[in-house]
Amino acid sequence: MADVTRRAHNIAQLRALAKARLPRAIFEFIERGTEDDDLIARNVAALRDLRLLPRTLRDVSRRDAGIELFGRKQPLPLVIAPTGVSDLLWHHGERAIARAAARAGIPFTQTTSSTTSFADIAGCATSGHWMQMYLWERRDLSWRVVEAAGEAGAEVIVLTVDTPMWPLREFNKRAGMGNPVRVNRVLVSDFLKRPRWCAGVLARYYLSGGLPQFANYPSEVGRKLTGTVSRVANSASVSWDDVAELRRRWPGKLVLKGILSPEDARLALDHGVDGIAVSNHGGRNFDSSPPAIAMLPAIVDAVRDGLTVLFDSGVRRGADVAKAMALGAKAVLIGRATLYGCAAGGEAGAAHAIDLLRGEIDVAMAMLGVTRLDQLDRSYVMPGAAGPCSA
Ligand SMILES: Cc1cc2nc3c(=O)[nH]c(=O)nc-3n(C[C@H](O)[C@H](O)[C@H](O)COP(=O)(O)O)c2cc1C
Repeated sequence: MADVTRRAHNIAQLRALAKARLPRAIFEFIERGTEDDDLIARNVAALRDLRLLPRTLRDVSRRDAGIELFGRKQPLPLVIAPTGVSDLLWHHGERAIARAAARAGIPFTQTTSSTTSFADIAGCATSGHWMQMYLWERRDLSWRVVEAAGEAGAEVIVLTVDTPMWPLREFNKRAGMGNPVRVNRVLVSDFLKRPRWCAGVLARYYLSGGLPQFANYPSEVGRKLTGTVSRVANSASVSWDDVAELRRRWPGKLVLKGILSPEDARLALDHGVDGIAVSNHGGRNFDSSPPAIAMLPAIVDAVRDGLTVLFDSGVRRGADVAKAMALGAKAVLIGRATLYGCAAGGEAGAAHAIDLLRGEIDVAMAMLGVTRLDQLDRSYVMPGAAGPCSA
């Protein structure tokens, strides 16, 4: 779909293209959340509900949205968030997103449940290769993943800490999109209603050896999307002691992803991690969680400048990025925005999603009267409606 740049002028339009192209089961897997599906909308609404206060009559003719993150300069304050299944959106979709990130000069985070090898992604993610992991019941298997990521040259390990159990994603049961995937009649019928996707994605995998598999799981965990993922992959017993152990084992940068409590943020600081991602997993894990943006200011206050605070969950506009940065985030992870782009048009679509955000960040900067993002602070952010300025 080479004309994706002409057909989508914002992330919402990319989403519509993705919805039209993907089988319902796959679209729902990326789109929906958990339980009553409230949190996704609340994440987006909480960001929308914040207002940004324009400042005027400043020379904003030269704007630079660049930042330095973990010692690397990058032209945009974005990082691609770890997301499974991108290979089901487009043939070799994960590589497509990693290449789009590299072209934009931003890091790509590879999920442990990736269906591409660390080495293959390392070859694509040339503007920063981060590796996300969960800690499993069999810690020895997790440490093997850490070693493999190091050997592949990953610069940052992102330990996701918000998933002690598999979340209640009941909607996935309709089409068997659980863990593991169970092929049923509904799933097959969803697929058949999208012949273009079947020809462009599914058939190409089958012609070249079969469906993608978890490429980096140890065999003890199980590799097939449709196989039984072993109970060793459970994370319920993981505690701060494990963070301390991971810190001892991993000399590179370490980020904890999925922090929502200021007290947990302080504990992260005590455990010597380099960064945290304030995130509710894009609303996919626990529907009663607060919107991530609501917790950002208190968390920034809790850690002061002791570590790097990243943010995600609900970002659909460049102005959302500006809001998170004004509230103290150093950079923003994007999940669904580039997934929609990839589903709509592969690498070109993912690149377009990043370009759209880039353009919107640029406009927001000019409107706010800043030439660099570190000029933003809380004085630019107001609550919604007619609420007072929080300066
Ligand atoms: C389809 C999908 C798969 C995801 N897989 C993972 C994962 O494997 N590990 C992880 O830490 N987060 C995962 N996430 C969460 C994202 O990393 C990120 O926190 C979230 O998408 C941010 O919210 P946004 O989609 O509103 O930008 C996933 C999100 C989506 C949409």
